Amino acid sequence: MCGIVGYIGYRNAYDVIIKGLQRLEYRGYDSAGVVLFDGTQMQLCKTKGKVSDLQAKAAKEMNAVGTIGMGHTRWATHGVPNDVNSHPHYSNSGELAIIHNGIIENYEPLKKELINRGYVFKSDTDTEVLVNLIEDIQKTNQLKLGKAVQIALNQVVGAYAICVFDVKKPNEIIVARLGSPLAIGIGENEYFIASDASPFIEYTNNAIYLEDEEMAIVRLNKSMKIRKIKDDSLVVPYVQELQLNLEQIEKGGYDHFMLKEIHEQPAVIKDTYRGRLLSDKGIIKMAGVEDNLDKFTNAKRIVIVACGTSWHAGLVGEYLIEEFARIPVEVEYASEFRYRNPIINKDDVVIAISQSGETADTLAAIKLAKEKGAFVFGVCNVVGSSISRETHAGAYTHAGPEIGVASTKAFTTQITVLALIAFRLAKVKGTISQSDYLRNLLEMELIPSKIEEALKVDGHVIDIAAIYKDAPNCLYLGRGFNYPVAMEGALKLKEISYIHAEGYPAAEMKHGPIALIDEHMPVVVIAPKQNHYDKVVSNIQEIKARSGKIIAVVTKGDEQVRALADHVIEIPETTEALTPLLSTIPLQLLSYHIAVMRECNVDQPRNLAKSVTVE
Ligand code: M6R
Repeated sequence: MCGIVGYIGYRNAYDVIIKGLQRLEYRGYDSAGVVLFDGTQMQLCKTKGKVSDLQAKAAKEMNAVGTIGMGHTRWATHGVPNDVNSHPHYSNSGELAIIHNGIIENYEPLKKELINRGYVFKSDTDTEVLVNLIEDIQKTNQLKLGKAVQIALNQVVGAYAICVFDVKKPNEIIVARLGSPLAIGIGENEYFIASDASPFIEYTNNAIYLEDEEMAIVRLNKSMKIRKIKDDSLVVPYVQELQLNLEQIEKGGYDHFMLKEIHEQPAVIKDTYRGRLLSDKGIIKMAGVEDNLDKFTNAKRIVIVACGTSWHAGLVGEYLIEEFARIPVEVEYASEFRYRNPIINKDDVVIAISQSGETADTLAAIKLAKEKGAFVFGVCNVVGSSISRETHAGAYTHAGPEIGVASTKAFTTQITVLALIAFRLAKVKGTISQSDYLRNLLEMELIPSKIEEALKVDGHVIDIAAIYKDAPNCLYLGRGFNYPVAMEGALKLKEISYIHAEGYPAAEMKHGPIALIDEHMPVVVIAPKQNHYDKVVSNIQEIKARSGKIIAVVTKGDEQVRALADHVIEIPETTEALTPLLSTIPLQLLSYHIAVMRECNVDQPRNLAKSVTVE
């Protein structure tokens, strides 16, 4: 769960690498490093901290020249974040340098063996073991670097995207991947290597995404050969034309990516349903669903697997699919599913949801479901990601790059896809009335403009944030479709402002959490005027009776809750099923403003990374 960048060409490698690392900081940001070949020797600079700390250190310690180099931004797995554990790592001879995203699970026995053979280790990392293993194989067998890397990778268990550089071969970088993404940007007389395409988008639109168990020698003035690591067979490279543009990966005038991404929701939700929803004709068409309609409609059960925010979207999906399509749905944390020997039958459909498409637990859950014979459908944002390739079929969310670690637009676009699936299946199965169906489709098309309206509460939310920014705890309550939104609101607050928060079904409060309520406890209650409205109003009364501070998210014009709550935040009216797309907006804003007021690093909260490619 780190970001890697490599460059070989004619530009100043340091500049390309530093800019690339800044774009990849969402993947990890506890330490950073760079190695350059200046024409005669390698120059290394690495430090605990962010890429900006690396820049400061490099400005003092390094002569940033050279047209070949590699850089790394780290999210620690083995070894605490410190200068020594930062990447790149050298081999014992100092001739090889490596950067690595992933985990070498069997590094301990390999390390013991290397120590027995006289190798000395400076860091606590698994990566330093790998580079020395490569060196040992290379030197013992007098092999070229590529061959040594291949043999070494056949001995390791785990996940990796690596770049290896040999000072004796200063015009090539060896790259390989298994379970961690790796893209190669192809320019005129230059190559870029990165965890995703964002570091090289202004230089080239052509990229090759390595598949698992593939490696390549990236060499100037030579055509690139991609090989299978296991059997050395050649792979025909597929050069993709990138759809990404620079604007999408910059802040566009916002202070933080998270705020930009919150405000992008009206536009990206349109992108999600564009071409799929023809509300005036009453048509939903999604290729991945249409092509497999029998699998969905004959499914005895749908199991949704996901993590974090995507899991919350999955819970909304459960409510949507059960309510409308009347197919039983279970929602599982991918991390539990993969290890608990779940019962999965051939006629089960598994839906895997992931923004990044790289989450290790979700990927492993998919592989398990496939082994058990289930049809696996992916709901992913990142095009060409591991999960999108591993699933039998799927639907992209088209949210565009989400860079803030706290997921916002990914959540609402995932719900949009799940709603489209639910309505489409309901229509085929005849489990929804025509009027309900059409109303929801028409409402779906109004959601972008209603989100625009919901975003106008920003100033009011800032005032509320100022009052509660120092609260040590916060409770979020919702019922029905809004219960997962309560959990998502709590997750947003805790991950970026470090305030402890819990999301609960409102009625569950009386079974325990009510004991927490006193005059110091802010309680965010999602109370739109819908099915459970009266019940939620009763819950609000219960909080008020115990002097809790009530922040209520209500339907525009609501007077009843206004009379009870300390603060109300209005959202436009929509169908009950689509309310999560609106009720989540003020909760995103609230967590954002509280985090800013607490001077937290909104886009890069501590201990987290955007895509969790480790177990
Ligand atoms: O990329 P994924 O959707 O698979 O990621 C899953 C979670 O790691 C992610 O949603 C995480 O919980 C976010 N930081 C929440 O904002």
